[in-house]
Amino acid sequence: MVDFSKSVAGMRSSEIRDLMSSATDPNMISFAGGMPNNDLFPVEEVNKLYNELPANLKKVGFQYGPTPGYPPLLESVRKYLKENGMPVEKNEILITAGSMQAISIAASIYLDPGDIVITEMPCFVGAIAAFKAQQANIIAVPLDKDGIILEELDKVFKTADRKPKLLYLSPYFHNPAGIIYSKERKAALLEYLKDKDIVLIEDDPYSELYFYEEDKKLLVPMKNMEPEGVPIMYTGTFSKILGPGMRLGWLLAPKEIYQKCEVMKQSIDACSSTFTQVIADAYVRNGLLKPYVAKMRGIYKRRMEITLEALNKYMPEGVTWVKPRGGFYVWVQLPNSLDATEVLKKSIINGALFVVGKTFDPEGKKNDCLRLSFSYPTEEQLDKGVKIIADAIKATM
Ligand SMILES: Cc1ncc(COP(=O)(O)O)c(C=O)c1O
Repeated sequence: MVDFSKSVAGMRSSEIRDLMSSATDPNMISFAGGMPNNDLFPVEEVNKLYNELPANLKKVGFQYGPTPGYPPLLESVRKYLKENGMPVEKNEILITAGSMQAISIAASIYLDPGDIVITEMPCFVGAIAAFKAQQANIIAVPLDKDGIILEELDKVFKTADRKPKLLYLSPYFHNPAGIIYSKERKAALLEYLKDKDIVLIEDDPYSELYFYEEDKKLLVPMKNMEPEGVPIMYTGTFSKILGPGMRLGWLLAPKEIYQKCEVMKQSIDACSSTFTQVIADAYVRNGLLKPYVAKMRGIYKRRMEITLEALNKYMPEGVTWVKPRGGFYVWVQLPNSLDATEVLKKSIINGALFVVGKTFDPEGKKNDCLRLSFSYPTEEQLDKGVKIIADAIKATM
C-alpha cells in the first residue's frame, strides 16, 4: 500500500462538510452551511441573460481562458474594486476559483512545512484547512469585539521560534464570530505590523452584506489604505453575493506577489471556469449585481432579526451572543464549558443542525460555542430551529 503524502495524512474532513450530507434531508433545519438559500438565487435573470448572449460569447464560455481571468470580467472586477476605493492601479487582480482558492494559493506560495501562520481564534475553517495542507504551524490569536487582540498578537511574535510569515484575517462580518473590526483596531494593527515583515491576507467575502448604512464607514478594507511596510493580499468573492456555485473570487495583490500567484494558479487549474466568468461578467455589466445585493441585504437582515428574536425567546440563562450587523452568522457562547457536540447530537435528533465551535479552532479543541448561519433556513424554519437548539442546550446543561 502506497503511503499518502504527509500533507493529506494530517487532514481531517471538516465537520461542516460532514454535516452537509445531513443538511440535504429536506426536513432538517440547517444553520450549518454558510451559504444562501437556493430559493434566493437569481435563476430567472441569469437564464434570460444567458439566452441573450451572442453566440460567439457562449462559445468563449466553453473554452479555456487566460490564467489571470476572462479579460472582460477582470475589467468588471477592476471597476467594481475601484469604485470601492481599492488601489487597483498599484496592484494586480487574479480571478480565482472562489476566495478559498486565493487563500490556498497564498498559503502555497509562502508556506513550507513548519512555517508559522497566524490566524484569528476563532478562524474560518477553510483557511485552517488551506494552511494545514501546507503543514504550517498555525497559531491562533483571540478576537474581542473590535478585532484581533494586539497584546496577544505581540506575545506570538515575541515567543514564536521562527518568524511568522502570514497573518490571515477576516475583518468584516467575521466567520464565525460575526464581528466587524473597528477603525482604531485596524489602524493600530497596521502600525504594529509595519516592521514585522509579514504578509497580511485580508479576506473579505461578506462586507457587501451590511444591514445598517451607518456601518459602511467601518467596512473600508485595510487594503484601501495601502499601508507602507505591510504587503496585503486582499480577497473577495461572488459566492455570498451571487452564488457559491459560480466558484469565482478575486485576489488583489502587489505585482511581485501576484506573479507568483499566477504561476501557482497555472499549475493548479490553468484558469477558473470561463463559463461562469462569462455569466458573472454579463451579470455585473448589465447592472444586475447591485440591486440583487441590495435585495439580499434586506432578506438577510430580516432573517437575522427573526433568529435573534428566537434566541431571546428560547435560550436558557447563561447562553450569550452578539447581534450581527451583517453577514450570515451568529456566534453563540454556551455557559459552563458546555460541549457543543453533545448539544448537536440532541439537536440533530430533533431536526436542527449547526456547526460546533471546535471546527473554528485550529487545534480542534475549544467547543463551548457554536455557529448559527441564518442565511440558509427559511423565515418559517428559523424560529422552529432555534427552539430545537435551545431545547438541546437545556437538555445538555
Ligand atoms: C471567511 C471566508 N472566506 C472565504 C470563504 C470561501 O468562499 P468561496 O471560496 O466560496 O469564495 C468563506 C466561505 O464560507 C468564508 O466564510
